[in-house]
Amino acid sequence: MSASPLSFDGRVAIITGAGGGLGRSHALELARRGALVVVNDLGGSVDGTGGSTTAAESVVQEIEALGGTAVANTDSIATPEGGEAVVQTALDTFGKVDIIINNAGILRDTSFKNMTAEMLDPVLDVHLRGAFNVTRPAWSLMRDQGYGRIINTTSGAGLFGNFGQANYGAAKMGLVGLARVLAVEGHKNGIRVNVIAPIARTRMTEEILGDKADQLGPELISPLVAYLAHESCDRNGAIYSVGGGRIARVFLGVTPGVMDQSLTAESIADSIDQIDDTDDFFIPARLNDEIRVIYGALS
Ligand code: NAI
Repeated sequence: MSASPLSFDGRVAIITGAGGGLGRSHALELARRGALVVVNDLGGSVDGTGGSTTAAESVVQEIEALGGTAVANTDSIATPEGGEAVVQTALDTFGKVDIIINNAGILRDTSFKNMTAEMLDPVLDVHLRGAFNVTRPAWSLMRDQGYGRIINTTSGAGLFGNFGQANYGAAKMGLVGLARVLAVEGHKNGIRVNVIAPIARTRMTEEILGDKADQLGPELISPLVAYLAHESCDRNGAIYSVGGGRIARVFLGVTPGVMDQSLTAESIADSIDQIDDTDDFFIPARLNDEIRVIYGALS
């Protein structure tokens, strides 16, 4: 028996970078389910240069053509002022913010040998600071209303490592840390914060996905976003890898390790296989869980 449809009637969702690719797909999915959507996109190229108002506006038109409700916003989320303007658009148009999908992103790929300091900030600015810039002005509103759903978009490049993406991987893991802390801080106020690591065919990936790219549509990512954005979702601080219809949880686990209060470099060398043994790992939900284990092992 299938679950009842997940409706978003009356919910207000901000989706950054929603003028194309995954963000557009998320916007269409939430709008189709009744959400009032702020389609943010500055309309730049994959490397973040340039800009045009048409990307966000054309997605708004698509949503309206399907009978949905949306408003375009073309501010860059890379600055605090831009983030505030996105939230203000939601407030001016729909009066509140229930959902934030931090999705906007750019690439400045090259091997670390060739990466310059100038290639770090633009990537951190859009991915990591962008999520901060949009979420921060909405946070107090969500706390006050006792409700919020936030989804950050990480990447396997950061979670697992990938050649040529040191700046991107660092930014994407920053989004995991941001989400984990917000999950802890927002819990008692009805806010849930989760993370997706998608694999999908978009302009960002069109040259790297190979011969099965046609099976990796963005529309196979958006159901997870809808699930995590829904009020019935109780998950918090979780990370999901999703692509081509396959979905799985990614987690940070800790091995049982060893306890040795006279630890030396040599004793570590002797027991490194046992330290690394993943049998009977546990998954801390927050820092305190790990500290409790360490304290429990102390004499
Ligand atoms: P995309 O390039 O189609 O979408 C990114 C969007 O963000 C673009 O429309 C762009 O104009 C917008 N954007 C860039 N800078 C912005 C700014 N400062 N302010 C507002 N909007 C801005 O690429 P795609 O694939 O849809 O990427 C969406 C997210 O998913 C990104 O965060 C990306 O890193 C992430 N991702 C995508 C994967 C994939 O397989 N496509 C894999 C892992 C992560």
